[in-house]
Amino acid sequence: MRTRAIAGICPSLFLAALLGSAVPALSQQGQPDLPPGPGRDIVLSVCAGCHDLNRLTAGYTPEGWLTVTNMMRNFGAPVPDGEWDTVRAYLIRAFPEKPRPPAVLIPGPVDVRIIEWPLPTPGSRPHDPMSARDGSIWWSGQLANKLGRLDPTTGKFREYPVNPMSAPHGLVEDGDGAVWFTGNFRGFIGKLDPKTGEIREFNLPDPKARDPHTIVIDHKGTVWFSVQNGNFVGRLDPKTGAIKLTTPPTPNARPYGLAVNSKNVVYFVEFGAPRVATIDDDMRIQEFQLPNAGARPRRIAISPDDAIWYTDFARGYLGRLDPKTGEVKEWASPSGPKSLPYGVAATKGAIWYNESGAKPNTIVRFDPASEKFQSWAIPGGGDIVRNMTVDRDGNPVLANSLENEVGRVEVKD
Ligand code: HEC
Repeated sequence: MRTRAIAGICPSLFLAALLGSAVPALSQQGQPDLPPGPGRDIVLSVCAGCHDLNRLTAGYTPEGWLTVTNMMRNFGAPVPDGEWDTVRAYLIRAFPEKPRPPAVLIPGPVDVRIIEWPLPTPGSRPHDPMSARDGSIWWSGQLANKLGRLDPTTGKFREYPVNPMSAPHGLVEDGDGAVWFTGNFRGFIGKLDPKTGEIREFNLPDPKARDPHTIVIDHKGTVWFSVQNGNFVGRLDPKTGAIKLTTPPTPNARPYGLAVNSKNVVYFVEFGAPRVATIDDDMRIQEFQLPNAGARPRRIAISPDDAIWYTDFARGYLGRLDPKTGEVKEWASPSGPKSLPYGVAATKGAIWYNESGAKPNTIVRFDPASEKFQSWAIPGGGDIVRNMTVDRDGNPVLANSLENEVGRVEVKD
């Protein structure tokens, strides 16, 4: 079994080898107090192995902890056999969910139906969604090391195993129907043939390029990707497999969401800085400064007029940049400064995004003409939509990482 295969390896060394500097930096931070009780010692010895114990203090509902422990088990956290129930009970008691801002739901003129499908592998942490041209909905099962496909008309699933510890993250379909993805923990770009399940891996040429993240394909078929922790943007020529990497001028810019405009220009947002940027075929990067120094744009969408829209995760805003003038306009998200706006898509004449901090998570529609918001609760709570794409009918598509679901926002025209 895959979890056994790595159980003997010291997880911190193991993950440090994969993630590099990110891990030691995390484990040097102050650790939270762990209240007494059965399971405490295991949590103390096991759960700090790959990341800081402060990860636990956000707290989760009992169902949330069930998902988190399933995810950690999938990923090989070496809790002794028979002890997972004790560990889970301890976590539920010690770290209940912290208060979150209640979702502010705004009525409006548009009618939607939000559908969610539970995924076959528990704790797979569906990170990003993708909709293929045949109408299927795909997801990256990051902590199950699988890519998945759902036929939403029949409800039939197919899961494709990727190499153990790949932790697939972003995914995108090319013109021939192949699915390209980022192998987040192993530093490669993967290409899946959905007919055969065969995968080709293209290794990133620089060992510092850790955390390959979001992936898009431009109008000429060139593959572009962000490398968050390594602070690179990359370009892969699908004909030769050649990869070029470059670093933004800003240190620790943490390139994150990526999108291509109507003129085939690639834009990305920097999650480590208040900046939006663009990159050309010669790998030259131009950055745009956002007015508020605290802004941390996480995801990006481009409307048909080539305006750049971003979710400001840190401040709870939706923003619009006009790249011709550099002018920026921002709107406070309905559920407030802690609403954590995350995935975003431009479709059906509006901007759609989710508030990942609000309880329950919301889908928000912003009408650029009237500058008015409308919002809906995601059924079942929705936690946590980390990216959004659009299906062939123009409907936003979701992956709910903690709920272990994929979803679709069906917009009634
Ligand atoms: C083998 C490495 C490893 C070990 C050991 C481990 N984790 Fe994790 N954990 C991960 C990875 C990988 C992620 C997801 C990627 C990320 O966000 O860094 C994660 C994420 C999390 C998250 C955030 C989940 C989310 O999606 O919001 C929590 C909470 C968490 N771990 C708790 C635990 C607990 C509790 C334990 C001990 C039972 C544990 N982890 C042990 C690797 C590990």
